[in-house]
Amino acid sequence: MERIRRRACHGLSPGDLLTGPPPLSPDQARAYGVYFETSPLYHHLNEVVASDSELLEVLNSIENPPRQNMLFAGVQFLLLKDQNHDLAAFYENLGSDPLPVRESGGPFRDFVLSRRGEIAEIGRTKYTQTNEPRRCVALVPALWATGTQEFHLIDFGTSGGLNLGFDRYAYRWGETTWGPKDSRVRLTTEMRGEPVTPHELMVLSRVGLDLNPIDVHVEDDRLWLEALIWPEHHERRERLLAAIDITWSVPTELVAGDALQTLVEVFDALPEGESAVVINSFILNQFGREDRRRLSRIVDEERLRRPVARISMEWLDKEAAGADLCIDVGSGLERIGLAQPHGEWLELYARP
Ligand SMILES: C[S@@+](CC[C@H](N)C(=O)[O-])C[C@H]1O[C@@H](n2cnc3c(N)ncnc32)[C@H](O)[C@@H]1O
Repeated sequence: MERIRRRACHGLSPGDLLTGPPPLSPDQARAYGVYFETSPLYHHLNEVVASDSELLEVLNSIENPPRQNMLFAGVQFLLLKDQNHDLAAFYENLGSDPLPVRESGGPFRDFVLSRRGEIAEIGRTKYTQTNEPRRCVALVPALWATGTQEFHLIDFGTSGGLNLGFDRYAYRWGETTWGPKDSRVRLTTEMRGEPVTPHELMVLSRVGLDLNPIDVHVEDDRLWLEALIWPEHHERRERLLAAIDITWSVPTELVAGDALQTLVEVFDALPEGESAVVINSFILNQFGREDRRRLSRIVDEERLRRPVARISMEWLDKEAAGADLCIDVGSGLERIGLAQPHGEWLELYARP
């Protein structure tokens, strides 16, 4: 049985929302290296690509942005499926004693040119859908701040749905702990500002909406989520794999399609009068102003039928130190804090 409900998208695809830039010149490709500061391997390979016209051609064959992230994720995805190539020996996550990064250029070139067709296909059909469960260290206090106790959870832009099983993770905010103590996903954050104020939560149902939902029950989907993590980011990878295992056993529904359409249908299917919570995290940067307003209108209209709380964690101002954490229980979005995009720290503001 297919686990994902698919909805017509009226011609909309993730590529339409994530329209990529025109072909990159060597200098433009080189300049992207600043984003790979925390990955010595990708930083080096980015320079290798920028200096090689054939590799640059493969890079420019990738339709979905950001191209470099897609290229490196695509290569890692293929290596995760089959490590039988010299290139695998340079990945920290694929062996215990990786070879020096500076020697990786030749094997990388050989691998990419021999698999260029598959890489272009990945670059056309997959998307950078990182899903970071540690964001739940901010989403859970926001849930408490809404005052909602029993609710249907709707994750708007869910990727692999790893936020949907938030109550199966073990949390620590300073001295405060919450969640099953024996959970394999242990989430801690540096607390700034006000302390968290926990109360019990009861999730009645869990639905994830995405243009292209990633189903953790499908091996290729799991591998793609893993391939999006950079080789040196061991802690993120461990957390992701543990969260995938937990999400695997949580009853959730994934609905494919434009979430502005599917949200209305999902609301319609909920039992009359029961509360709902809609979460959007790290998706609205892919929405124009009018679509953001449309989301607010859909939620407001649903409030005529049931209590709906909204939680928003979005980093729309890249000059800001972190992502704005907001709640809306019917009187508009209220900023309740600021969070590091991967949940490394959380600052909660004092509230009346
Ligand atoms: C960066 S991921 C964030 C995933 C998750 N919310 C998190 O915080 O880890 C953004 C997700 O939004 C999805 N997305 C973008 N536009 C969408 C739309 N119009 N409808 C549904 N999903 C969309 C993408 O496919 C992607 O999986």
